[in-house]
Amino acid sequence: MKIVWKKGFIRLVLVAGILWMFLILIALLFHVWSCQSSVSFFSAICNKDSKVFTVLNNMGIVPEPLNLQHRCPIPLSNDPDKIVIPKGRTPDDIVKDLSYVTDDELWNNGFQRSPLFGGHQNWSQREESFKLKSTMKVHCGFVRNSGAEMAPSDIKYVKKCRFVVTSGIFDGYDIPQQPSNISLRSKKLFCFLMVVDEISLTFIMQNVTVKEDGHGGKWVGIWRLVLLKYPPYDEPRRNGKIPKILLHRLFPQAQYSIWIDGKMELIVDPLLILERYLWRGKYTFAIAQHKHHHSIYEEADANKRRKRYARPLIDLHMKIYRYEGMESWKPGGKTISDVPEGAIIIREHTAMSNLFSCLWFNEVDLFTPRDQLSFGYVVYRLGGLFKFYMFPNCEYNSLFVLHPHTREHSSAVEWVKNITELDGKGSRMKESRGGLGLWTPYPGNLDSVVLPPVARTSKAG
Ligand SMILES: *[C@@H]1O[C@H](CO)[C@@H](O)[C@H](O)[C@H]1NC(C)=O
Ligand SMILES: *[C@@H]1O[C@H](CO)[C@@H](O)[C@H](O)[C@H]1NC(C)=O
Ligand SMILES: *[C@@H]1O[C@H](CO)[C@@H](O)[C@H](O)[C@H]1NC(C)=O
Ligand SMILES: *[C@@H]1O[C@H](CO)[C@@H](O)[C@H](O)[C@H]1NC(C)=O
Repeated sequence: MKIVWKKGFIRLVLVAGILWMFLILIALLFHVWSCQSSVSFFSAICNKDSKVFTVLNNMGIVPEPLNLQHRCPIPLSNDPDKIVIPKGRTPDDIVKDLSYVTDDELWNNGFQRSPLFGGHQNWSQREESFKLKSTMKVHCGFVRNSGAEMAPSDIKYVKKCRFVVTSGIFDGYDIPQQPSNISLRSKKLFCFLMVVDEISLTFIMQNVTVKEDGHGGKWVGIWRLVLLKYPPYDEPRRNGKIPKILLHRLFPQAQYSIWIDGKMELIVDPLLILERYLWRGKYTFAIAQHKHHHSIYEEADANKRRKRYARPLIDLHMKIYRYEGMESWKPGGKTISDVPEGAIIIREHTAMSNLFSCLWFNEVDLFTPRDQLSFGYVVYRLGGLFKFYMFPNCEYNSLFVLHPHTREHSSAVEWVKNITELDGKGSRMKESRGGLGLWTPYPGNLDSVVLPPVARTSKAG
């Protein structure tokens, strides 16, 4: 009697235990499943920062695209006051002497044309610019009388800036965000320069307090506003690439710079950033990996789906790159990825990193303004001689807090569906001063070019 009772009890405990474990398993599976559900109610439940998710992720239970953590801690030094700033400059060993084309070719078959910011660079000049030599002269924007002019008071102010944090606001999309966690040492060391166009300056003055300093300087908190007069492009996005990529031309005294997009609030001390991303690994250029894409063709596909630029022109841009030998990214190749997350760029301004920036800008000037497409191409053209650090995307997301734009980006050129709508004559042509390479006949037959197939790995991309 007693034995039977005992057996029954053990069985009960066992069954209850198993049931209990099942319940936990189902709850866990639901947790993971909710994170990939396309039903917004379930994906809203997903909490990727939760302990459970992290534990499951570490156990390898979470499927591939999900195990990309959004944020992760950056291995920073503890104390900005203890950072030792390297003496001197990183030596220039490949390119030693870099100069820039300042005047445009104004005559063409007997016709005079107006100067373009990027110059009327022809195909053979572009080819030549990718051949590394110790003395080089390349196009790099800022062609005489083509716009983007700074006030004398700003030119004078930026002369003293050896360490800069730069951001930019164009077409009144944002208001300046004050960086946080900036040490006293960094406040003294760095110039915080916010580059704006006239529309944005007016917008900023209407919405936030702008202080004037008696020397013609305008300030919003820590940011010194730097006005660029006469925007050289019709597309605000193209104008926004000037301070971002050609920072070394606007602020020629800068030895170290951190670029951050206008909609972001920097939350990490800039000196700690330079130490982490440049000095620790002896790099002169650092940029984050894109969260989802590795191949420029994947990125181009996503740009088309999201209407980031005219689809036929994105295709033309990619066909030119494919024709010129750019392959789809493969694991185990020369780069850990061909696609960066371009909103933060950390640089020491050596001749090589400046050259890279010029060539990158020239691609953006000649083709579509989607700089994430041309970055990997320029890396490829320099044959691995341009060394840079591509850091994990989850660290990138720990550098800033995102503030949404004050309104949505939109431009007529994004809705263009075929090339004939963009023949340069019609009223829909919104790009009279940018994208020269898209309108100039290409010296090669692109008809037979087939773009590499793209596997859509993430719905978010
Ligand atoms: C490109 O421009 C350079 C400099 O103006 C000129 O010498 C060269 O002949 C041009 N090449 C072509 C193919 O038009
Ligand atoms: C900025 O100011 C304009 C005009 O005063 C106003 O219409 C707009 O709502 C303001 N925007 C923000 C983000 O404060
Ligand atoms: C930096 O400031 C933000 C608030 O803007 C805060 O949430 C964050 O914890 C700070 N980070 C560090 C490393 O101090
Ligand atoms: C391009 O679009 C225009 C109108 O938007 C249309 O009239 C024209 O037929 C189209 N051309 C081609 C080649 O599809």
